[in-house]
Amino acid sequence: MANIRDPKMKRITNKTLANAFINEQVKAIKKQVGSKKVLLALSGGVDSSVVAALLIKAIGKNLVAVHVNHGLLRKGEPEQVIKVFRHNLKANLIYVDASKEFLNKLKGVNDPEKKRKIIGKVFIDVFAREAKKLKGVAYLAQGTIYPDIIESKGVKAHHNVGGLPKDLNFKLVEPVKFLYKDEVRQVGLALGLPHDMVYRQPFPGPGLGVRCLGAITLDRLTALKETDYILRDEFKKAKLDQKVWQYFTIIPEGKSTGVINGKRLYGYVAVIRAVNTKDAMSATIEELPYAFLKKVTNRILKEVKNVNRVVYDITPKPIGTIEWE
Ligand code: XMP
Repeated sequence: MANIRDPKMKRITNKTLANAFINEQVKAIKKQVGSKKVLLALSGGVDSSVVAALLIKAIGKNLVAVHVNHGLLRKGEPEQVIKVFRHNLKANLIYVDASKEFLNKLKGVNDPEKKRKIIGKVFIDVFAREAKKLKGVAYLAQGTIYPDIIESKGVKAHHNVGGLPKDLNFKLVEPVKFLYKDEVRQVGLALGLPHDMVYRQPFPGPGLGVRCLGAITLDRLTALKETDYILRDEFKKAKLDQKVWQYFTIIPEGKSTGVINGKRLYGYVAVIRAVNTKDAMSATIEELPYAFLKKVTNRILKEVKNVNRVVYDITPKPIGTIEWE
């Protein structure tokens, strides 16, 4: 089949159209895979989650979803994947906690591109190892969406599983490959996925690995997860979460001097970044209210061990990229 969306295809803008798409795809998937098993790398992002929910509807337990926790996911994410897919949707979910393996392989690695390569490679290794243990899997489902096909240089290049070893020999199932992101979200809502999963902000494939700058250490990674969690929580409370494209924290290398009870203490610096963009090629700064910044700062200083300074990055892209690495 040509990789071009049928120009007559209606844009999915509401629940009725989303349901029609779901019914059509459920039939198509059943016809394509029959009683064979389908494997999916379920990251918990909107695209793979929607594909998983569609496949569960079509073939139930014949979908084998593998969630690889590389230890670089945001706080609460692996738990949400398990809750939504294993408990609510009764999926056949294999959860692999590979965080130690990833951290070991990343030990002492400073260069951002090397870090990306390692994360991508270890991801494929772990996924392929799990896939080889399974019997009777003939298909691989992927959350490819239409912009991935249009943009030859998709930003997702680091994260897809296109680099799987050939001996696994899968045929592809890509049920949302002609949908735009807003349509994927409509379908996700119609399938009953939680709102915050469907409207999750974009997250880089290498995850928090490119926000824990330089050589990743467990204590800076922990500080990153905690500061990011507080920032997201406050964004949600202030209803800024649907207004801003990406907002996150970064923990640079090095330490800052602080003073507690008259004693000098060295701690980490947390950076707050919040940007808006249409295509990720350029980005502007979201001018967060001062009172909001103060609230987040106070919470971080009080709640996150080892962080004693919070700064706000107001660099637009260009020159600064959205991520620091
Ligand atoms: P930059 O930092 O290049 O980011 O301005 C643009 C967008 O791409 C995301 N990003 C990545 N996504 N793998 C991904 O899947 C990556 O290695 C990667 N690096 C950056 C970034 O979060 C932003 O949305």
